[in-house]
Amino acid sequence: MTFNLKVLVLIVIFLFGNIVTSIPVDNAAVRKQNIIFLVSDGMGAAAVQLARTFKQTRDDLEFNDLLNLDTSLIGTFRTRSNDSYVTDSAAAGTALATGKKTYNGAIGVDPENKKPIGTIGEALKQLGYTIGIVVTTRVTDATPSVWSAHALLRGQEDLIAEQMLGVGHPLGRVNDLILGGGRNFFTPLDSEGGARPDNRNLVEEVQANGTWTYAGNREQFDALQGGDNVTLPLLGLFADKDIPYKIDRDESVYPSLLEETQVALKALDKATEENEQGFFLMIEASRPDHAGHANDAQTIAREVLEFDDVIAEVSKFVQNSTTDTIVVSTADHETGGLSVWGTKPSDYQAIFNATHSSEFLAGSIEDFPQKDNDTALTDFITKDVLQEGLGLSKFTDEEVQRVKGKVGTSKLAPTIANLTSSRSKVAWGTGGHSAVDVDIYSFSNSDYLKQKVLNTKDGLAGTHENTDFSNFIRSIAGINLDEITDLIADINVNTTLPSGSD
Ligand SMILES: *[C@@H]1O[C@H](CO)[C@@H](O)[C@H](O)[C@H]1NC(C)=O
Ligand SMILES: *[C@@H]1O[C@H](CO)[C@@H](O)[C@H](O)[C@H]1NC(C)=O
Ligand SMILES: *[C@@H]1O[C@H](CO)[C@@H](O)[C@H](O)[C@H]1NC(C)=O
Ligand SMILES: *[C@@H]1O[C@H](CO)[C@@H](O)[C@H](O)[C@H]1NC(C)=O
Ligand SMILES: *[C@@H]1O[C@H](CO)[C@@H](O)[C@H](O)[C@H]1NC(C)=O
Ligand SMILES: *[C@@H]1O[C@H](CO)[C@@H](O)[C@H](O)[C@H]1NC(C)=O
Ligand SMILES: *[C@@H]1O[C@H](CO)[C@@H](O)[C@H](O)[C@H]1NC(C)=O
Ligand SMILES: *[C@@H]1O[C@H](CO)[C@@H](O)[C@H](O)[C@H]1NC(C)=O
Ligand SMILES: [Zn+2]
Repeated sequence: MTFNLKVLVLIVIFLFGNIVTSIPVDNAAVRKQNIIFLVSDGMGAAAVQLARTFKQTRDDLEFNDLLNLDTSLIGTFRTRSNDSYVTDSAAAGTALATGKKTYNGAIGVDPENKKPIGTIGEALKQLGYTIGIVVTTRVTDATPSVWSAHALLRGQEDLIAEQMLGVGHPLGRVNDLILGGGRNFFTPLDSEGGARPDNRNLVEEVQANGTWTYAGNREQFDALQGGDNVTLPLLGLFADKDIPYKIDRDESVYPSLLEETQVALKALDKATEENEQGFFLMIEASRPDHAGHANDAQTIAREVLEFDDVIAEVSKFVQNSTTDTIVVSTADHETGGLSVWGTKPSDYQAIFNATHSSEFLAGSIEDFPQKDNDTALTDFITKDVLQEGLGLSKFTDEEVQRVKGKVGTSKLAPTIANLTSSRSKVAWGTGGHSAVDVDIYSFSNSDYLKQKVLNTKDGLAGTHENTDFSNFIRSIAGINLDEITDLIADINVNTTLPSGSD
């Protein structure tokens, strides 16, 4: 008896001891804080080096002049997905947002049963955070959607659009602010620029229902007054598909990622002023990835520099904020297998001189009205594309003919891109993604949060699987993703109708 009682007492002490140590001693779950997560899609270490060196050359800076993000490097993520060493943005985004590796193409579902799994966005919303998403691609693309949507395949963007608005989502509306491109998956296939096969117009529906405010062009973006004139929830869709690359963008027509970020920070900060919790904001420079796929050096350099300007803006916000704010920035994977073997500033001239992306220039050739007139076409390629578009002072007839030979084929843009890459001593290993690790950057205005992120176990210092991001968020916000998984079990993850229905 005595012995058993002793055992019982020991068991009770053991359990009690465990319970006590598992409760965050600093009561992390109720601290008011903002979490800002930045993703530069497709940005590997070589793209960072390329952007840094390009900027030094362009602005005549010292060799040791750094990018804004350089000073906050803390670790690296390993990015493999469940079914490949080389992840896509859907599996990588799902790993970051849910803490679970899945198959390439999956949005917030597990690899084994293809069932929905709870996300950081959903969990933080349940805890009272206000949720913002800011991108330059379609807002229904993988990285922006994984925080609140669940679909078997990333291409089910019409379904994803509904879920992101809160339609058919068991938790209701998760997002409070969505800014980016991709109007097409919100508007009818039968309308100009629309892509929804069900012909619903979600933009009109949310306004008629009074569930979201909407901004759909530059003028309406400007009326947001840099975030001072925002009524949440706000949906801002500024392009049918992607917002153009920085190098091609007419910013009197399209807002920049920097401007979107300013609006989001101001609006979310104001909206949460009196709240018990702050905000979670995911900002993605979406298109270093696209430039990487296109093997386009002049374009990826500028996409990364735009991302770096956003980092500076976020840093200014954090320094001024009276709310504890943690910033974590990374890439979901590298794109293009970029390698940089230029040895001196002049090697970067061709990147500096270019005024457009290869995609834009290829498009301008295909759209050239006198394409069938050999003399006129040669003239156009020489003057408008190589001299003006790429800014090249020297090139050969063979190069002009090489470009001309690809008109009307999918090789036209890559052939144009190669004129810059080869001069800049930049080489590409693939038109897809690569398996290399990506950098993690972090800064904060709170010593407590700094200490949390710099710890190697629950924090992000050193080398980590990309799934560890959710461990870190759990350690500072007390989220329980398994609980969310139970709550969202019934969400529809597939748009394909069973045969026989219409
Ligand atoms: C992939 O998922 C399957 C099913 O859950 C699991 O058995 C396997 O260990 C996973 N592999 C990796 C590398 O994540
Ligand atoms: C608008 O309201 C109707 C009626 O309640 C509903 O069926 C529809 O899903 C709503 N649309 C959106 C985009 O919220
Ligand atoms: C503020 O936004 C409303 C629409 O929500 C618009 O009517 C008004 O003109 C805007 N104010 C300014 C000063 O831009
Ligand atoms: C700094 O914060 C204060 C309030 O906390 C705000 O009114 C002001 O606009 C902020 N300034 C900048 C430059 O963000
Ligand atoms: C072809 O283009 C050249 C150069 O622009 C022009 O001089 C010529 O008249 C054009 N030929 C035809 C048949 O249009
Ligand atoms: C870049 O432009 C400058 C100024 O026009 C020119 O001197 C230089 O040769 C160009 N570089 C290349 C690689 O064409
Ligand atoms: C790229 O440029 C280099 C140097 O001019 C050339 O040797 C190579 O054939 C080009 N590759 C393609 C695919 O055009
Ligand atoms: C989607 O659902 C349909 C039936 O509703 C099914 O036939 C199809 O296999 C599902 N797609 C996937 C990718 O599971
Ligand atoms: Zn990609």
